[in-house]
Amino acid sequence: MKLRVGVIFGGESVEHEVSIISAVQAMKSLDEEKYEIIPIYIGKDREWYTGRLLKDIEIYSDLDLMKKYATNVVLCNKGDKFVIIKKNGIKRIIDYIDLVLPVVHGTNVEDGTLQGYLELIGIPYVGSNLYSASVGQDKVFQKQILESSKLPVTKYMWFFDSEYKENEKEVLKEIKSIGYPVMVKPARLGSSVGISKAKNEDEVKEAIEEAIKYDEKILVERVVENLVEVNCSVLGNYEEQEASELEEVMGADEFLSYRDKYLGNSKKTGSKGMASTNRILPARLDSKMTNEIKELSKKVFKVLNAAGVIRIDYLIDKKSKKIYINETNTIPGSLSFYLWEATNKPYKQLLDEMINLAIKAYKRKKRKVFSFETNILSNFNGLKGSKGKLKM
Ligand SMILES: Nc1ncnc2c1ncn2[C@@H]1O[C@H](COP(=O)(O)OP(=O)(O)O)[C@@H](O)[C@H]1O
Ligand SMILES: [Mg+2]
Repeated sequence: MKLRVGVIFGGESVEHEVSIISAVQAMKSLDEEKYEIIPIYIGKDREWYTGRLLKDIEIYSDLDLMKKYATNVVLCNKGDKFVIIKKNGIKRIIDYIDLVLPVVHGTNVEDGTLQGYLELIGIPYVGSNLYSASVGQDKVFQKQILESSKLPVTKYMWFFDSEYKENEKEVLKEIKSIGYPVMVKPARLGSSVGISKAKNEDEVKEAIEEAIKYDEKILVERVVENLVEVNCSVLGNYEEQEASELEEVMGADEFLSYRDKYLGNSKKTGSKGMASTNRILPARLDSKMTNEIKELSKKVFKVLNAAGVIRIDYLIDKKSKKIYINETNTIPGSLSFYLWEATNKPYKQLLDEMINLAIKAYKRKKRKVFSFETNILSNFNGLKGSKGKLKM
């Protein structure tokens, strides 16, 4: 019997469209001999849809039409089974799934939100768990954890918007001690949204005003000069990790903008997702530095307790040869398949390995004790005749 894989994508995030591209790529690459693929699309309206037509990219050019032909559903558990139930009209089960492949990017989905829901209903899923996913989204938490494990990050500070409003002077003083130029970032966004570079106090005030529009938590970090950006993907779990070849990414702009990342260069041929960014693969680094980054990537993966495939992005000062971990993506654009293809692992095989890791993790988790079969409240009669005193 084929394993029924529900591919969940979309969601209320700035990276909604990118997620659609990544998911369609994955659905086209999953082995149809082994898997029954069930697309589950979360619209920006937070409604969930399914239907065969959701496997094709063309349908997403007209979302109203798509919604007309797709079925509005909910995913829940019914005993040991995971069912997709039609939401409108007669509520009936229209499909079953065994496992979820989340292909979502960004806030309200990738950040542990979706993983939390999947944990709640108890369905096995591919990739990092909710703890790891949420740390993956919060650039401040991530830096704090990496720093405490003595892994290299840029000099930084952070604050809440309210702290800035109440004590602007103090915040600016602390930023000054990091040293200009700095990057100002909303702590929990992605795709370079709300990020700017500031060379002095006037610019930093402007940059903070911009970042505050998107998040209440703001990160300010030292700019890495003579910048080379490289990314490395890691596949595995807490026991075993494998690092991919490195890519060198190039931004036409001062830094990688949303357009560079997801829209590629070619507006005419349409978006190809992360697989079309301007890149050099493998990165032009000597073998010593390449290996150093691969080893570092495995450590980062483990420290963050990641699982499945993640991508770790680095900033390198090519003069001083210093390496800094910039950020991690627990569900990277295009699931980093192009990095694995360059590592002699075809996409189909990568997806197989990711699914196998998820099944292994699920079985392992099932063996741990989470709750007790007996209901400890069954002997509880403390409220009767005791005026609310607990009698256990
Ligand atoms: N400390 C830094 N020094 C130099 N450039 C940076 C620094 N931080 C970020 N950038 C540039 O900004 C881009 C986006 O920042 P990043 O933290 O990766 O945000 P996002 O989550 O939006 O991808 C990076 O790819 C890089 O080009
Ligand atoms: Mg980035």
